[in-house]
Amino acid sequence: MKKNVVLLGMMGVGKSTLARIVAKKQNLKFIDTDSNIEKNFSMKISEIFKKKGEDFFRIEEEKVVLESLKKSKSVIALGGGAFINKVIRDAVLKNSISFWLDINLDIINKRIKWNKKRPLAIGKNTNVKIRKLYDQRKSIYKLANYKIDCNKLSKEDIVKKIINIYEKK
Ligand code: S3P
Repeated sequence: MKKNVVLLGMMGVGKSTLARIVAKKQNLKFIDTDSNIEKNFSMKISEIFKKKGEDFFRIEEEKVVLESLKKSKSVIALGGGAFINKVIRDAVLKNSISFWLDINLDIINKRIKWNKKRPLAIGKNTNVKIRKLYDQRKSIYKLANYKIDCNKLSKEDIVKKIINIYEKK
């Protein structure tokens, strides 16, 4: 049986949107791990960070991602920090075909600047916060099976690339 597809990378790159499209086109299940965490607690991610703290969120994130990886025939969109956790990363690398979606940070900034959904990027200096996270994370994101440079690609192009690789597996 084919492995699951996992999309990872920085917030705002489009992991959930793209995962949903790939899943639909390939008749696979779409799993958004952040949405599942929100459902489990009936709280938005920003609220979980505020009320329970990031450490709590990361523990729940690990549980939810590991649970999702056990499912089959799925396209899984991870939250931006999930792959940084070694337990999650090892499980992803073992059980799935993983794609790092990479994009210029200016684009990410524009997309998320006015959005209050991302606790690690709200407030002043979003661009500095994003740059710092990216610099800390890029060498880890790089461990994914494939990197897709999304800068000059349309959504459809990115989806095609993912499906092409998936179909050959
Ligand atoms: C985070 C990214 C978010 C969410 C949480 C933490 C991160 O997901 O999991 O706010 O550490 O980069 P998206 O990448 O879907 O925005």
